[in-house]
Amino acid sequence: MSYVEYRHVFYRPLHPRPTIVIGSLCPGEKINFMPASWNMPVSEKPPTIAVSVYRETFTYKCLEYHPEATINVATIDQYQLIYDIGSVSGEDVDKISKYNIKTVPSKLIKPPGLEGSLAIYETKIINKLDVGETRIYVFEVLLVKVLEGFVDEYGPLLDKTNILLHGVGRVFYKVDPKKIFAKKR
Ligand SMILES: Cc1cc2nc3c(=O)[nH]c(=O)nc-3n(C[C@H](O)[C@H](O)[C@H](O)COP(=O)(O)O)c2cc1C
Repeated sequence: MSYVEYRHVFYRPLHPRPTIVIGSLCPGEKINFMPASWNMPVSEKPPTIAVSVYRETFTYKCLEYHPEATINVATIDQYQLIYDIGSVSGEDVDKISKYNIKTVPSKLIKPPGLEGSLAIYETKIINKLDVGETRIYVFEVLLVKVLEGFVDEYGPLLDKTNILLHGVGRVFYKVDPKKIFAKKR
């Protein structure tokens, strides 16, 4: 095996990545949704999820305005909507009316979820870290809701649905549902 220096955008080998959508409450009590594929679970106690948010986004302003958010796990069926809402800013357009977005009321927080998502996490911000042009938000999970019949104790039922992996730009992938078992040794 030999390795060569990769001279393209550094993060490309880290993709495709699962896409989530941040639902936030913005100045003027407006609701906004923004996709983010730079996300990860962080800790179990407390349950947390980190998301890297570009500080030029409207979502950044919204998260600074109100410290709660929904984190919506996108399905492959939502690829066009996700691309659309990730290509315009809530600062310029009302995404809810422009894309006819249906929302799911939250139980514990003000921002609603995005209907059709595989899972909706109700969260609140507990930590922030500025890195370069982004702010990493650490969201504590207050409640997890899943689309009934599509997620079991091991995760999404991939014979019924699929998750939305973001490649580059408008390219998305889904997961091959075939299971590959490693040997226990
Ligand atoms: C699939 C996808 C994933 C994205 N991931 C991120 C991300 O992780 N962080 C980020 O700041 N922007 C990400 N973006 C770009 C934002 O979604 C985009 O800038 C959006 O228009 C911001 O919306 P807002 O200004 O209404 O907050 C992504 C876009 C797409 C389509």
